[in-house]
Amino acid sequence: MSQLMKLSLAQAVPMALKAFVEIGIPDILLEAPSDGLTINAIIEQLKDKPEVHHDSLSLTLRILSTVGIVVEESAVAPTYHLTVMGKLLTKSHQSSLDPMIRYFLDEPLWNAWGALPSYMQAQQQTTPFESANGMPSQQYYSMPEHTSSLKHAGSFVSFVSQEETRACVEGFDWATLNSKTIVDLGGHSGQVMRAVGAKFPSLKCICLDLPEVIKKNCASSMETEKNGAVVQLVGGDMFDPATIPPCDAIFMKHVVLCDWNEAKSRAIMKSCHEALPPSGLAIIAEAVLPSPGSTNGQESLSLLVDYFMTLDGRSPSKTSQEWQSFAESTGFKVLSIQHTSLPTCSILVLQKQTIKEA
Ligand SMILES: C[S@@+](CC[C@H](N)C(=O)[O-])C[C@H]1O[C@@H](n2cnc3c(N)ncnc32)[C@H](O)[C@@H]1O
Repeated sequence: MSQLMKLSLAQAVPMALKAFVEIGIPDILLEAPSDGLTINAIIEQLKDKPEVHHDSLSLTLRILSTVGIVVEESAVAPTYHLTVMGKLLTKSHQSSLDPMIRYFLDEPLWNAWGALPSYMQAQQQTTPFESANGMPSQQYYSMPEHTSSLKHAGSFVSFVSQEETRACVEGFDWATLNSKTIVDLGGHSGQVMRAVGAKFPSLKCICLDLPEVIKKNCASSMETEKNGAVVQLVGGDMFDPATIPPCDAIFMKHVVLCDWNEAKSRAIMKSCHEALPPSGLAIIAEAVLPSPGSTNGQESLSLLVDYFMTLDGRSPSKTSQEWQSFAESTGFKVLSIQHTSLPTCSILVLQKQTIKEA
């Protein structure tokens, strides 16, 4: 019973995190002496801000000490200091996760979670986000009155995107493609190709996206060239293989399982099959869910991220077995799956199989 009570009250932890970040406690604790700060000392430092209630701040920090954000030193007046994980919530940290807390726990997403059970029961078209906020997320975040939500979402998305780029550079041995041509299909601004090209200058890196997206990104293309890694930005259509430049390998991050259906995912693979030479590679960066029955603590994070994506009506990611049958049914074979530190970004290397004539 106590375990179930704990689970049913689990929302207290993210809410404690939200209060912790919004009140600005991480940055106060960062400056704390090594034996930490008492609640009164923290409140003293907040004296120029709206008054903070002693007992609720104390409970907030006690809860966060149970999940490894702060260390609580017992004394007549307990003191608190940040753990290594807690330091990630300070604004000055180079990988600050302050925007993640603000984005995930912002009202529109929090309310969307509340709409999830009825979405599951009704199997309706309206996503939980839309039911809770009256409009799809893209529209919501683009409205001027929601600029602060957009700011948090934008900072978090760009942080994830930088981390994913790093994971893509490190998660595949690009040197094996020495002096070959690679096309990033749906590569948006060419961020990944820029990073790959900078580290492996012998590769010819091309980023293909819709013509209007490429036009918008022309400025960054110039910047790219200044930095030494030349990435060619090309307008095209991933559903039309004739628009894909001749290449030895195709890279795709969050493209195969974008917010479209299985038929479109297959159509993209068909384009790749037609555009690639015999034995050419499709390098895919996507989430790989743990197989049923084998979910451990770390892997369960990818299930949580997938559950979060459901708020926007996204279909689930695939397990490695599902990726294998998907690859085979689209004329490819999975050569390897490399997990990275990010639950959203494993690197799957698929090789084009030649369909033998009967
Ligand atoms: C989910 S985003 C992924 C962007 C990038 N790969 C990343 O991971 O940040 C999907 C990308 O596909 C592009 N896209 C959508 N339809 C396309 C099409 N028919 N042809 C080429 N690109 C397309 C979008 O403009 C967008 O940049």
